[in-house]
Amino acid sequence: MKLNIAKLPGDGIGPEVVEQAVKAVDAVCRRFGHEASYTFAEVGACAIDKYGSAFPESTYKVCLESDAVLFGAVGDPRYDNDPTAKVRPEQGLLAMRKQLGLYANLRPVETFSSLVDKSPLKRELVDGAEFLCVRELTGGMYFGEKGRLDGGDTAYDTNIYHRYEVERILKLAYSYAMRRRRHLTVVDKANVLESSRLWRQVAQELAPQYPEVTTDYMYVDNAAMQLIRCPKFFDVIVTENTFGDILTDEASCITGSMGLLASASIGEKTGVFEPIHGSYPQAAGKNIANPLATILSAAMMFEYAFGLMEEGAAIRAAVAESIEQKVVTEDLADGGKAYSTSEVGDWVAKHI
Ligand code: IPM
Ligand code: MN
Repeated sequence: MKLNIAKLPGDGIGPEVVEQAVKAVDAVCRRFGHEASYTFAEVGACAIDKYGSAFPESTYKVCLESDAVLFGAVGDPRYDNDPTAKVRPEQGLLAMRKQLGLYANLRPVETFSSLVDKSPLKRELVDGAEFLCVRELTGGMYFGEKGRLDGGDTAYDTNIYHRYEVERILKLAYSYAMRRRRHLTVVDKANVLESSRLWRQVAQELAPQYPEVTTDYMYVDNAAMQLIRCPKFFDVIVTENTFGDILTDEASCITGSMGLLASASIGEKTGVFEPIHGSYPQAAGKNIANPLATILSAAMMFEYAFGLMEEGAAIRAAVAESIEQKVVTEDLADGGKAYSTSEVGDWVAKHI
């Protein structure tokens, strides 16, 4: 198969980790007889520097004309402490999600047995935990009307959801629950928020169409607690944009390192595959960042963008093996040898 991949490394450690994912993709292509071609484009701070926009039209075109986007991270400390900045790198990511219609962000959380002791939680709580967070990605507070009043002294963000947005993400979450352990947890704040009451109403309407699936409803504050208290309870979690952002950072540490969590953003146009960690500017250029989340995102790309399941599995197996053999970066090294970003990438590619 011909794979036209848009390569958007972005900022910070983005370029280093995406390079390792590219090695994995190339290794898969050699093994399975596919042909990958990459088109580079800028997003985030590097795009602002060059084009004055965090997601320039030219980058959008590259995405549209590709089958999948391999994305690194955006963010730059130059913008973090300047609340008055007019353009910010994060706008690039948000614009990309919106313009490509990527309403679903899939963030699988899995634990590796050999890493459970890296988790801040007790081994018996974590070992065997495996769930999928389905985060709505183009609605809610992130995209609702926002602004300032009173000469700047009052600020607001609007958490707005339309029925069709809620319906399509819930249906998708149900479809994954059907293929998994048939347990869906709808996370909301329906005791306080009107938008959450719409979510719950739509979920209650849909639930009878999926009698095989056990649906439960959980307030987000309780969900934040249960993720830590009892992560094995969960199979599929579905929630709105902001809650999903927060809960998936929390969920990522269950596994022992944020550097392991991959994600797929899918929807109307080209899908984007990216690690959930950010640009980690302190580590940029040092060849120390963990590339596994990005490499696992490439596995998701094979599975979700191309329907090539064996190819995705080959990447997963090599990643699991690298963890097993302790060929890992410093965040997972645990006093043992810390391999560099590129050494881990080379090792994984070789084992594919
Ligand atoms: C994420 C990130 C982004 C988000 C930021 C960088 C805009 O935290 O992908 O989770 O909040 O969605
Ligand atoms: Mn986040």
